Amino acid sequence: MKYTQVHINTQLSDTTQDDVAQQLLKEATQAAHRANAPYSKFRVGAAALLANGLIISGNNQEKAAYPSGLCAERVTVFYANSRYPGIPITHLLITAETDEGPLKEPVTPCGACRQVLTEVEDEQKQPMKIYLAGKDNIYILEHARDLMPLSFVAESMNNK
Ligand code: THU
Repeated sequence: MKYTQVHINTQLSDTTQDDVAQQLLKEATQAAHRANAPYSKFRVGAAALLANGLIISGNNQEKAAYPSGLCAERVTVFYANSRYPGIPITHLLITAETDEGPLKEPVTPCGACRQVLTEVEDEQKQPMKIYLAGKDNIYILEHARDLMPLSFVAESMNNK
């Protein structure tokens, strides 16, 4: 497994980072197995480590009325924030599989998820480190906002 640091300034030691990533990968992979994706057959799992030490996982949920479904990332962070409001998400790992097994290269979140992750990080005023996991490679981003340059957040409306 190759870890690629997409942005520098890691706060954890490599060993600790590896432990967190491996634990989250395990949880996210199990969540991907449980995904409800009968239409795309693309099963995505996400696992979030909270500042209180808990791990929350989630997966994509599809409905016949396609736009009514939701991506794994948003299922996970919305649930984490609804169950533990005010507790920051320190790390979030995302992975995906098809009927042929896990993706070789990391899954990259859709634009709507990037917006939500960026805003959640902005609200919690603490970095949310992102791992995008594939079978051969994990991309590491120090901040959710690295997924979305020039993003629109709450403060953007006070730009007078
Ligand atoms: N999907 C996610 O859950 N997360 C991503 O990062 C990419 C896409 C879901 C949405 C839909 O259920 C399926 O994957 C195919 O787009």
